[in-house]
Amino acid sequence: MPDTSCVNIDFSTTPSLARQRDSRYVWHPWVPAEADLSEITLARGAGYRVWDLEGREYIDAASLNSTCGYGHPDLVTAISNQVRRLHGTDLATACHLPAGALAERLASYLPDDLNRTLFVNSGSEGFEAAVFIAAAYWRLRGQSRSRIVSFAKGYHGSTLLTRSLSALPPIEHPITCSLRTCQVELPGSPRQLRAAEALPRLLGAFSEAIDADADDPPMAIVVEPLLNVGGAILLPEGFLAGLRKICDERDILLIIDEVFTGYGRTGKMFAFQFEDVVPDIVVSSKGLAGGYMPITAVTVRDQLHALFADDPILGGLRYGHTTSGHAVACAAALATLDIIEADNLLDRVTRLGRCLLDATEALLDHPNVVDVRGIGFVLAVEMTTAEMAVAVAERAYSNRLLVRQNGSVVLVCPPLIIDEQGLDEVQARLRAAVTG
Ligand SMILES: Cc1ncc(COP(=O)(O)O)c(C=O)c1O
Repeated sequence: MPDTSCVNIDFSTTPSLARQRDSRYVWHPWVPAEADLSEITLARGAGYRVWDLEGREYIDAASLNSTCGYGHPDLVTAISNQVRRLHGTDLATACHLPAGALAERLASYLPDDLNRTLFVNSGSEGFEAAVFIAAAYWRLRGQSRSRIVSFAKGYHGSTLLTRSLSALPPIEHPITCSLRTCQVELPGSPRQLRAAEALPRLLGAFSEAIDADADDPPMAIVVEPLLNVGGAILLPEGFLAGLRKICDERDILLIIDEVFTGYGRTGKMFAFQFEDVVPDIVVSSKGLAGGYMPITAVTVRDQLHALFADDPILGGLRYGHTTSGHAVACAAALATLDIIEADNLLDRVTRLGRCLLDATEALLDHPNVVDVRGIGFVLAVEMTTAEMAVAVAERAYSNRLLVRQNGSVVLVCPPLIIDEQGLDEVQARLRAAVTG
């Protein structure tokens, strides 16, 4: 049991009181208003398992940001040490040790001159910043560009600006942003997109979107290496390298969204590293502090950063938040990166992720399974309909496996520290949920 001696929460709360409080006072994001999530009120976690107030155990394969699982002693130590030493300072006022150490560490993982990092708190804020930086960059180069090219099924956040980068129905909103976007539809099903023949069609679609307004060349192309919220859709090999070439030829910034894929989720530190590309801006978040603290890194090339000295009003970046680069979040991120390295998590995710996918492919025999796809610890089972995916997710919950459901896709994303035994259990519970 957790040590609750100095925490001002009543841990003896009964499940029914917890349920009442939740359904009366908490507004859960992204779920129907009448949904009652309080059925599972989580009380504690250890490794890849969590327990609810009733003491039932679950495997967490739904937390998109879980790198080291729950209660990792190194994270607990790093966070508590930093809180005792210095919990934070506004980076607009002074610097602190964890921010510098973390920014340097990120530069060591990233190629070329991707050396300068702005820290913010959420992925959405990271994309607000990236788009702001891109627009300001062109202004500083004496050009007024207003357009972004992105995937219609991409997802880069839920703020006014970032939701306008994609066209997913659930994020459509009556208030619209004046940012001009041009969204590329996928030229084929997820299965077709994995084939080499999809590459020229996909790159052609991006070229067409760029050419759609010859008077207003895009300030940037914004893409995820795989479409997470869009349905865990893998893109053809060579896609990012092809986009980089297009961006170089047309003088357009390439912004890569590693919010979900960064820090080992796919088996590489960053998913764009499957290809030989250098983005202009990389936004990375979820796995960075493994869900222990909110933090997002917006990393840009040195030459891009240097231009901001010419900003006419400030001579620098006119963007940031009071908690940007929070010292405790930076310390948690450094501890997470230590664990990724010390436990060889990238190799393990590559190896075990392959086994997970191979074993799950057996489900393709089921008449309601349309596709099984994945890479590293991203596994998607696509059902014939969204209703079937909802039913599978509900049965998985009953089987004590927490999964995600987006449309017709059931998404399984276990913590990167999960072992073979844990993955066998994930397999068995998932299989029972799909076939049940
Ligand atoms: C690829 C991607 N980009 C951006 C975001 C937005 O991040 P946040 O929810 O932290 O604002 C998400 C969140 O799921 C994401 O998956």
